[in-house]
Amino acid sequence: MSFDLSVIPNKNIVLAVTGGIAAYKSAILVRRLKDAGFNVRVVMTQGAQAFITPLTFQALSGNSVHTELLNPEAEAGMGHIELARWADLLLVAPASCNTLAKFAVGLADDLLSTLYLATKSPVWVAPAMNQQMWAAKATQRNLNTLVEDGVHVIMPDAGSQACGDVGLGRMPEPEDLARQVTDYFHKAQRAIAEKFGMLAGRHVVVTAGPTREAIDPVRYISNHSTGKMGFALAAACYAAGAKVTLIAGPVSLDTPNGVRRINVSSAVQMLEISMQMLDEGCDIFIATAAVADYRVAEVAEHKIKKAGDELNVSLIKNPDIVATIAQQQKRPFMVGFAAETRNVEEYAAGKLVAKKLDMIACNDVSRPDIGFASDENAMIVFFAEQYQMQKRDLEKASKQEIAQQLVEAIHDALHNEIEPV
Ligand code: C5P
Repeated sequence: MSFDLSVIPNKNIVLAVTGGIAAYKSAILVRRLKDAGFNVRVVMTQGAQAFITPLTFQALSGNSVHTELLNPEAEAGMGHIELARWADLLLVAPASCNTLAKFAVGLADDLLSTLYLATKSPVWVAPAMNQQMWAAKATQRNLNTLVEDGVHVIMPDAGSQACGDVGLGRMPEPEDLARQVTDYFHKAQRAIAEKFGMLAGRHVVVTAGPTREAIDPVRYISNHSTGKMGFALAAACYAAGAKVTLIAGPVSLDTPNGVRRINVSSAVQMLEISMQMLDEGCDIFIATAAVADYRVAEVAEHKIKKAGDELNVSLIKNPDIVATIAQQQKRPFMVGFAAETRNVEEYAAGKLVAKKLDMIACNDVSRPDIGFASDENAMIVFFAEQYQMQKRDLEKASKQEIAQQLVEAIHDALHNEIEPV
């Protein structure tokens, strides 16, 4: 399972296409839903097939298209009852007047109307029709009935229509429909995570990326950290139900869905914001940032001009952010990271004690295949003695998978669910 909330994993959409000129937009809708990570199966009424062919939808969805209620071949594959059970959402787009009327009275004379009665999944309809047909009393009466029956009606847009009229009745654009569907699943997923997730109700603060230490107004000292591990952790913590604040050094990564991001530049700024987070109330502090150990003692007010063969810049030690937070009276659960090139385990275990951490995840950055700019990582996790937990080897995997395992490790330590050594 992936924790990337921008893509919805393993959700099934039955897209039912009925007879209307807007059916052509549904072809693009299939693409957009697939792009968002949904599995899509298409059902077409007979009317729909007058506007667009099943082959188009088969090619776009990657699945055969369902058109008949009593087709022995189709029933041998995925029949209407299986299809009804398979759906996490039945989306009827475009929904014709005729289909709305059938749904409202409970007719079951073709595949779609039968499916509507047979499914337990939420049903969404996107009516699309001539503005006069939309305004007709019977249509409005049927829509009211459907709303009372729990169907979600996506309001049509207003504008010029294929028939030449102007008014309400246009199907919203595929991108808009796909976004509404995606938002719905995100919210549902989030509600579950907030209630049952491993970090439900916790505020997690993650530091990520490098820091930038100014030399003069145009130059700085920094490092190669990309922030990928920290961003993956922020996403994983959010997916596990936490409220997440990401304190990010200068990196070019998109903010993970649902995460509050505060951009900083120097180590001193990172510490300042971290301390503010303590005041806000922080339960778990995860320090993935590659903080510069030293900063320039006196930052030049103006650009330093080229002169002489040597230039000496005096450096002074930066505050250790994770160690400073760990010393506070009301301290969160502290997670540190260690990147080493030799004696990896020994140095990491030493840092765990020296910085008064609860957990440390270390990796061997001398390995060319993992770490810094790589999309993969492999780590060893140590816990402070009081947790009585054995070290964990996280084998080479994507940073997303490693992040998920680290969330599990944090959860287990907080609940001390592991057998004592
Ligand atoms: O001492 P070292 O830099 O190897 O320690 C790494 C751990 O300490 C990381 O979790 C890093 O984010 C944190 N750290 C910090 N502030 C510093 C230096 C390191 O929070 N100034």
